[in-house]
Amino acid sequence: MKMAFSLATKAFAALFIGQTIAHPLVSTGQHDHRVQSLQRRQVDISKFRLTTTANYVNADSGDSALKLFRSLSAGNDYLETAKAFVAKTFKHADFRVADDSYVGANGIGHVYFKQTAHGLDIDNADLNVNIAKDGSVFSYGDSVFQGAIPAASPLQRREFSDPVPALKAVSDALELGISADGASAEATGAHEEYKITGTTGADSDPITTLVYFQKPDGTLALSWRVQTDVITNYLVTYTDTSSPKSILGAMDYVADATYEVYKWGVHDPSVGERTLEKDPWDTTASPNGWHSSKGTEYDTTMGNNGYAQEDWDADDDYASAYRPHPADLEFDYPYTGNETNPHNYINATVTQLFYTANMYHDLLYLLGFNEAAGNFEDDNGSNGGKGGDPIILDAQDASGTNNANFRTLPDGQKSRMQMFLFTVTTPDRDGALSADVVIHEYTHGVSNRLTGGPANVGCLNTAQAGGMGEGWGDFMGAAILTPADATRDTDFIEGAWVINDAKGIRDYPYSTDMTRNPHTYADLKASTEVHDVGETWATMLYDLLWNLIDKHGNTADIRPTFDESGVPVDGRFLAMKLVIDAMALQPCSPTFLQARDAIVDADTALTGGENKCEIWEAFAKRGLGSSATSTVANKFDLPEGC
Ligand SMILES: *[C@@H]1O[C@H](CO)[C@@H](O)[C@H](O)[C@H]1NC(C)=O
Ligand SMILES: *[C@@H]1O[C@H](CO)[C@@H](O)[C@H](O)[C@H]1NC(C)=O
Ligand SMILES: *[C@@H]1O[C@H](CO)[C@@H](O)[C@H](O)[C@H]1NC(C)=O
Ligand SMILES: [Zn+2]
Repeated sequence: MKMAFSLATKAFAALFIGQTIAHPLVSTGQHDHRVQSLQRRQVDISKFRLTTTANYVNADSGDSALKLFRSLSAGNDYLETAKAFVAKTFKHADFRVADDSYVGANGIGHVYFKQTAHGLDIDNADLNVNIAKDGSVFSYGDSVFQGAIPAASPLQRREFSDPVPALKAVSDALELGISADGASAEATGAHEEYKITGTTGADSDPITTLVYFQKPDGTLALSWRVQTDVITNYLVTYTDTSSPKSILGAMDYVADATYEVYKWGVHDPSVGERTLEKDPWDTTASPNGWHSSKGTEYDTTMGNNGYAQEDWDADDDYASAYRPHPADLEFDYPYTGNETNPHNYINATVTQLFYTANMYHDLLYLLGFNEAAGNFEDDNGSNGGKGGDPIILDAQDASGTNNANFRTLPDGQKSRMQMFLFTVTTPDRDGALSADVVIHEYTHGVSNRLTGGPANVGCLNTAQAGGMGEGWGDFMGAAILTPADATRDTDFIEGAWVINDAKGIRDYPYSTDMTRNPHTYADLKASTEVHDVGETWATMLYDLLWNLIDKHGNTADIRPTFDESGVPVDGRFLAMKLVIDAMALQPCSPTFLQARDAIVDADTALTGGENKCEIWEAFAKRGLGSSATSTVANKFDLPEGC
């Protein structure tokens, strides 16, 4: 890492801003002021696609540098070994270590480098070194620039064009509709990075960074790397500072993707057909789509919110596990339901698990489970919380059968969902294909992260708190998967398809009818097993769901619409939001009484208490009325005013 330029950069940054303010740029002519629609705008970057080619030296290539180093390096720290290898193998080039090195579960250390010149990144010159478990160099890949680096630093005389014209050139060339008249550049504090303020037509201020770019002709260009965020296109475009109108290359971090899946809202394979879903992400929750993170674009079921793969040998090794790698992110794989070997439809299963988990991530985000609240994302962006924790989604995990589980770690550490096969059916059924099961498991992560804070995942371990942990999972499934044309007389069954039994995996259906589901608070005296306790809790919440739907109506929309105060306009999403908001209010190790009070409080905070009585009526109906106490016994009374 080179720090030598930092002083010069600061001095220049101040100067540069001064100039921009003193001499606002005049309009350079034609700008596209069209009104943006909410539809995806198709930006055509095909003419500008990057052509960088990389080289991979694999483990048994017989490469002499690799061989030599293998014998020298065993036993050392993986990061130091990688650095020493690079220093020796690429003697005449400079590098910085990128900040995303890690050791995979298979023991291989992955270290990423960016080539630099005069302290600037050569943005399309990367190097990755893989270090084996024993500390030796295993293999490496590179797109290192082979030509001559300019002798003088461009930062000494700064004879290159400003970033604002570069942005204009990019907008013109790609027809982005960003107007930069009167815009100015502000140093962000990062090395040679400037935010362009005062533009219109972009979703956020464009960011420009001074970098080098290696051109296909083998020469190096000093370039403005221009980052623009327009509707669903998140683009990085390189301009040539010596010829500001020419575009060197462009990439879209948001690639189109299609998934053949049981669409969000389909409870399980018995009640729906698989359909082809195109770009199903929400652009607020997943601004770069589902297959991109920290500048890496994945061609597989990996991205910012989760990594989905098989775990047939139950070794938890997600780094080298199988995932589908279709062309152009077209996850279009067969599943018939009568295939006897589940391994034969692993592509469909992993696709479905990735889709359902990402759909849920996006919904939860809109409902308030975002980066700051401790959600599961690799890149927390500038939104608070900790990054580095996409969910590990293991399908057909062989560590168990007829079940599923979720291991929640504190924010910033990767949590794991394990989906098993159900072998009580013929043929086996795959839990990952049933949305109720996936939502149940994911919700464990949500409730653990929200209760007691993102760093404390030890708050749902008492009988009541742990029981509610089970209940929230069933409730969220019920709220999401209950069809829009259902009524309060419609029951919800958890886990019927996976065991091929219409009664499902719980004792009773979720029902507002006390004769079909008689659960009350007093049931906690009979059993403190968490799934039993959870069934009672989810039953109370199911009553709450229908009280709110009857009051505010239902919607077939898959995502909420909020009024100007941030309140979901329908009863279904309102119920989900209150339940999730309450998780963050309640104490560590909450009791039923405290969790109930937190839901009442969540409504007070969100709506000023508009739904107080509907909430109390649901709980009082099931024995958790206003005079209920921690000594478990039914009380059916309502508080004053209801
Ligand atoms: C398997 O399922 C497919 C699609 O549901 C069906 O067309 C086919 O007839 C089934 N095959 C058998 C052997 O049941
Ligand atoms: C999964 O899909 C890939 C193509 O992406 C294909 O080559 C492979 O055979 C498929 N696997 C199975 C088990 O069908
Ligand atoms: C993102 O998370 C990292 C830790 O993973 C933390 O150091 C950083 O402060 C977070 N970024 C922001 C902007 O909150
Ligand atoms: Zn559970």
